[in-house]
Amino acid sequence: MTLSPAHLLQLPADLDRQLLPHHVAVVMDGNGRWAQKRGLPRSLGHRQGVLALKELLRCCDDWGIPALTAYAFSTENWGRAHEEVDFLMTLFEQVLWQELEEMVQQGVRIQFAGQLSALPTSLQDTILHAVESTRQNQGICLTVALNYGGRQEILQACRSIATLVQQGLLHPDQIDEALFSQFLYTTGLSDPDLLIRTSGEMRISNFLLWQMAYTEQYFTPILWPDFDRAAFHEALLSYQSRQRRFGK
Ligand code: IPE
Ligand code: IPE
Ligand code: MG
Repeated sequence: MTLSPAHLLQLPADLDRQLLPHHVAVVMDGNGRWAQKRGLPRSLGHRQGVLALKELLRCCDDWGIPALTAYAFSTENWGRAHEEVDFLMTLFEQVLWQELEEMVQQGVRIQFAGQLSALPTSLQDTILHAVESTRQNQGICLTVALNYGGRQEILQACRSIATLVQQGLLHPDQIDEALFSQFLYTTGLSDPDLLIRTSGEMRISNFLLWQMAYTEQYFTPILWPDFDRAAFHEALLSYQSRQRRFGK
């Protein structure tokens, strides 16, 4: 991928630095259609999608947005063709190895959300290595949602909390929103301010169900591999034009 011209590295003049989201979440959708439109196999759409995520991560870093969460594989995505699932698992592992050094240098802290124990063991090992290698980094926090499902996440939190109650370590009255949040995969991360979904679909697809109670949502017909700085700029302009009321 070519490097962005210098003027693109700075926050565009029509964006207000004070009103930037702290945490952006993305449903990276449309890789398959991007490839199909070009007569290419879906796998090439996924490869191109990785480059788009890389560029968005850079852009968030350049523009001063401290947290990015990307939906890479849902609990429902196991229902795809075996070849596609296998390709994606291999791709995740390859990309993590390839990008680790650059992420370390860039100060990226990578973490994962999802049920990782169901992933191939070599991918689990690579994930652990990447998380450990970037744990001390002070830059942007990249959370990759992998084998992630919002309902599954809420259920596993309920199970953990129920076990503590059963053991007499917790009283039901102590279960409040703050405590519940600590049992989610995103513990320690603020709720997303902005959700972006590409490819024209206007649904959540089981992403961050608890965390998105008050997240601003932005839908664009752009297919994920084509989502670039200009497209992100548009999304941020939309975000900054809104009045967030939180029910008040
Ligand atoms: C999103 O692109 C990537 C993953 C779900 C892994 P898709 O693969 O869903 O692409 P479309 O929606 O079929 O175009
Ligand atoms: C959501 O996209 C999941 C990811 C981007 C990883 P899908 O393509 O799986 O969602 P649906 O099937 O269109 O709802
Ligand atoms: Mg899709």
